[in-house]
Amino acid sequence: MKVLNNIIFPAVWFSKKRLRQATRHKTILITGATFGIGEALAKLLANASVTLVLVARTSQKLAELQTELSASGATIILVALDLTDKVAVADWLANFDIPIDILVNNAGKSIRRPLYQSLDRLHDFERTMALNYFAPVQLFLHFAPQVEQRQGQLITVSAVNVLLPPAPYWAAYQASKSALDQWWRSAAPELNARGITTTSIYLPLVRTRMIAPTKIYDKVPAMSPQRAARIIAKTMYTQAYQYRPWWLPFGQWFGFLFGRLWHWINVKLLKLKLKKIKHSK
Ligand SMILES: NC(=O)c1ccc[n+]([C@@H]2O[C@H](COP(=O)([O-])OP(=O)(O)OC[C@H]3O[C@@H](n4cnc5c(N)ncnc54)[C@H](OP(=O)(O)O)[C@@H]3O)[C@@H](O)[C@H]2O)c1
Repeated sequence: MKVLNNIIFPAVWFSKKRLRQATRHKTILITGATFGIGEALAKLLANASVTLVLVARTSQKLAELQTELSASGATIILVALDLTDKVAVADWLANFDIPIDILVNNAGKSIRRPLYQSLDRLHDFERTMALNYFAPVQLFLHFAPQVEQRQGQLITVSAVNVLLPPAPYWAAYQASKSALDQWWRSAAPELNARGITTTSIYLPLVRTRMIAPTKIYDKVPAMSPQRAARIIAKTMYTQAYQYRPWWLPFGQWFGFLFGRLWHWINVKLLKLKLKKIKHSK
């Protein structure tokens, strides 16, 4: 598994010196900084010359991070906030007067649930859209002018799924991530024309609490959150337009050439599953 992991997720060559230079005296806002990829990124960026604005709901975890990261000299500003609460976010934004250089939209929620277990759960679709789509749009709209003034960077943490043929059970998550991806790709030229760097990080599976409920993922290769954090941080000095794993184009070609076959295989597998369920009743 380790060898396979290293082939699928090769080590990220990374210059700490260049990162320090690129982020010196910068203010970096990270959403979803309390766990997983966001937490790993905050730890990677923390040094004496940066200010980190950490946004998430779990106050206790934010406080722990502040203690830990302040020790490395970073200035830490905590924002305990539910990003799906549009009014609370608007109130915070109205009173928050620290200019941001780099915004990392990372907070996210995933749901894997069959459609027929979701018939009375419209809220699943509303909640994923609220956090994965409307919340980042609200932040980008607010911060774009000041990021422009500082010729800074907007980064969004996306998923490879939005560029690959869709998979069953993921309708809520994939639709919300795809919505933001479309928004992003449409808005990026306008933002770039104003001198704002935009970076989209298309991540594969990452071993965080987000994927923990999906038991099948225990047995498949996944990137570590620390590696994902290095990928994101590296774009702060490369100013890359996007990150995609090296193998993604193969998946995209497969989707282009065999999209109907993929659909057909999924239907067959789901029919077999339904049959099994009917027989077991
Ligand atoms: N894990 C993967 O396989 C994978 C793959 C591709 C892309 N991604 C993307 O990577 C990003 C980070 O995911 P992760 O795997 O690190 O997940 P995670 O470990 O579950 O962390 C999610 C972060 O988002 C915060 N968050 C959740 N709901 C929030 C809300 N309503 N308001 C404010 N903050 C909220 C959480 O903090 P609180 O609970 O404290 O609020 C936490 O810090 C997501 O955008 C995800 O879609 C993940």
